[in-house]
Amino acid sequence: MASIAPISETKCLLKLVVNDREVSVVAPPAQRISRVLREQLGLTGTQVGCDAGDCGACTVLLDGEPVCACLVAVGQVENHAITTVEGLKSRPPILGRLQGAFLRHGAAQCGACTPGMLVSATALLERNASPSEADVMDALGGVLCRCTGYRKIVDAVVSVGSECGETSCPAAGASVGQRLVRLDGKCKVEGTEIYGADEIPTGALTLRAIRCPYDRARFRFGDLEAFVTANAGVEAILTAKDVPGEDCYGVIPRFADQPVFAHEEARYRGEAVAAIVGEAEVIESLDPANFPVCWEDLPGLKTIDEALAPGAPLIHPHRADNVLTRGRVVRGDVEKALAEADAVAEGEFETGFVEHACIEPEAGFATRIGDRIEIQACTQSPYMDRADIAKLLGIPAEAVRIIPTAVGGGFGTKLDLSVQPFLALAAWRLRRPVRMVYSRIESIICTTKRHPARMRCRAGATKDGKLLALDFAADFNTGAYSSWGPTVAARVPVHASGPYAVPHYRALTRAIHTNIVPAGAFRGFGVPQMAIAQEQLYDDLAIRLGIDPLEFRILNALDNQTPTVTGQVMGEGVGIRACFEALNSRWNTARVDAVEFNAKTSGPIRRGVGVAGMWYGCGNTSLPNPSTVRIGLKRDGRIALHQGAIDIGQGSNTIVTQICADALYAPIDCFDLVSGDTSITPDCGKTSASRQTFVTGKAAHMAGVELRRSILRLTNASEDAVIDFGERTLTIREGGKQRSFSLQDLPLDKYGYALTAEQTFDPPTSALDENGQGRPYAVYGFGAHMAEIAIDVELGTVRVLKIVAAHDVGRAINPTLIEGQIEGGVAQGLGMALMEEFFPGKGENLHDYLIPTIGDIPPVESILIEDPSWIGPFGAKGVGEQAVIPTAPAILNAIHHATGVRMRRIPATPDRIREAILAHYSSDPGATRG
Ligand code: FES
Ligand code: FES
Repeated sequence: MASIAPISETKCLLKLVVNDREVSVVAPPAQRISRVLREQLGLTGTQVGCDAGDCGACTVLLDGEPVCACLVAVGQVENHAITTVEGLKSRPPILGRLQGAFLRHGAAQCGACTPGMLVSATALLERNASPSEADVMDALGGVLCRCTGYRKIVDAVVSVGSECGETSCPAAGASVGQRLVRLDGKCKVEGTEIYGADEIPTGALTLRAIRCPYDRARFRFGDLEAFVTANAGVEAILTAKDVPGEDCYGVIPRFADQPVFAHEEARYRGEAVAAIVGEAEVIESLDPANFPVCWEDLPGLKTIDEALAPGAPLIHPHRADNVLTRGRVVRGDVEKALAEADAVAEGEFETGFVEHACIEPEAGFATRIGDRIEIQACTQSPYMDRADIAKLLGIPAEAVRIIPTAVGGGFGTKLDLSVQPFLALAAWRLRRPVRMVYSRIESIICTTKRHPARMRCRAGATKDGKLLALDFAADFNTGAYSSWGPTVAARVPVHASGPYAVPHYRALTRAIHTNIVPAGAFRGFGVPQMAIAQEQLYDDLAIRLGIDPLEFRILNALDNQTPTVTGQVMGEGVGIRACFEALNSRWNTARVDAVEFNAKTSGPIRRGVGVAGMWYGCGNTSLPNPSTVRIGLKRDGRIALHQGAIDIGQGSNTIVTQICADALYAPIDCFDLVSGDTSITPDCGKTSASRQTFVTGKAAHMAGVELRRSILRLTNASEDAVIDFGERTLTIREGGKQRSFSLQDLPLDKYGYALTAEQTFDPPTSALDENGQGRPYAVYGFGAHMAEIAIDVELGTVRVLKIVAAHDVGRAINPTLIEGQIEGGVAQGLGMALMEEFFPGKGENLHDYLIPTIGDIPPVESILIEDPSWIGPFGAKGVGEQAVIPTAPAILNAIHHATGVRMRRIPATPDRIREAILAHYSSDPGATRG
């Protein structure tokens, strides 16, 4: 790189060369180039995930070398050449081929990391046209991705030199099952996707929240008016007094308990007590320490034990013992069965908080238009946002429009409101657009986390290996407000048996309030934590019985006629046995290899192989969760698909369209996608609970079938007729005859279409009785993972060598996107098993909070099993959350296989592993390693 000029403090005119064009900017020389690119030059492809050099999302080329744009001052690069993602297409020898490879390989999911990945890969490819996998991992090692598990990114970069580009559109009726590139992918690889922070309306004010610095504190404001007067550019301060409607929101209305701003007492560190709104530069330069508020630090309840202790203060006065809610599923006689069992295993397991670490921090803006409010922000649940904002403002739901931006990773945390209530209140009161972007630290401090869990369980089996009973109890630290605590407490007892026949069963759960940031939804709603306990316990039971752990699981796997622990008999589509059996040969080989390796080696490295299974109900637990899809035939012959399922990177925009296209029997390139916006799409519910492929996909299928019927009725054609969708013309062919008619002749309906079909699907479930018996889900997904690991028993470090992931997805609508979900789930499961733990008040950044990097992820072999569900579209089931569940327990079982050590406190960090190994060998000096 050329020499760099010293930084000057004065604001001045600077000349840069950006994407081969000379440009001039006026900026303080110390301003980061990421900001100059985004805000002055409109190049918002350069994403800002951390503003601290930790995530790599902002990577640009500076004189051909990748740098973090958030770490470089604009004054240092005058007259230097900067290339952003928007400028990559024209750089020889890449010329757009890299972007094409990303699309074909499914290497961009949410897309927030994609610009950083593409820029880093370009720098590599410019000096090495045929990089190896290791070269790619080295070059991209500074860019974090939370969605993909990196494998498809590596494949895409390696393939650039060898693959040709184009993919053709499948024929009518042939979209399902194809590896189509995502329909919304182009803007992700070209840097033109719009995320929450990417648009700044003209004249927008900026909002900054004042947050409690203590676990619990009473507070009193000073003279707020004087503060506004003294600070030119500050327009207003908002507090709880400024909420015009009912100041209580929450994702589950029955449990709603969260105010926009704390009233007199803040219940967790990071809770907002006020907001300052004003001109951006003024708000950014204010020191929050000067804000007029006095705090009285109060003792907070941080642990489950503290919250449950007799006499502990109640965090919510109406919730006795600080218990938010309980869950219960009971079947048979557990105590008797355990007493009669030939073998019993028992154990306690504990998991910590896990941070979602979406690469895109929460952001958006709100605008008041007359008596309506519009909010453009990242969200997973636009209609739920609409309902809560309407309640807070005291206006009808129809007066609230939610315009979802692209979501740069969600994983559950963007189901809850974040910036939206503040923006809505400010824009409503000030009648000016107001914008808010969480910093990375703010995002970590105040958005939801995965629930820490403390679990106790006992399981018993007969000597020939048949499971008899499971007794499971778990407490979840749900933090200061309810968020998704009730869902976790309800879902876990239904799933704690694992995908096995367990005739005698008791699973009891509690969600416990503490003075900690609320725990919420995170890919699996408590089931990943539960599986860590249950799958390790079953491994212990198998070992105790002298039965191979995979064989034990196959022996006990649910089948179509076996009642589940809620008494549900599925009848068809129970593919768990096939998942386990798909691992069989790999398992036998890997186990033998590991044992041989351990027998031969005398060093500290041991190898182990573990397995774990999972099942997961798609959709809400025993609650309605309908999706409505509308499709309209336009006069130009194209088809508008109004689907409100938010694509957070998982691919619903593509998958739902594939389903609808085949139901209608139309080529997928006839479709125009209309996504998300509450004013133009019907409600497709939230993107969570692995429900969009199943529920919204089913509604899209039904709407496609209905539109097809309506078209055929126009010509009295039978169901077997073929429809050709021409430009402004439809042609119906049947029995050697054909009839064409002009769409221009059809009158437009109330939606502005020549023909419209709208359908709603709500999965058939039933309420659970007092013992949790009933039919909580219409469809379950199943899966089994096998992990091969190497562990250094002296250092306690674990390297995952390979994951094999078999998933019953019912029908693989788009295998590439499904593999992407599996690989991304594996990466998050690996992080959960080995490294990820959030400690409130500590390490609230991506430097200290570690998520897996490209170098941590092993090869992942995905095996797709297609045991069709009775009701899913083309038999499809969900896979988004399923993919994360079995990875951690499979790795933990592999650690046990390698060392004989059972990890009970997760994540299994090197210090904990080392401690457990020392304890194990000191308590049993004769124990053999492995
Ligand atoms: S935004 Fe620059 S490294 Fe994260
Ligand atoms: S695709 Fe990489 S962070 Fe989402």
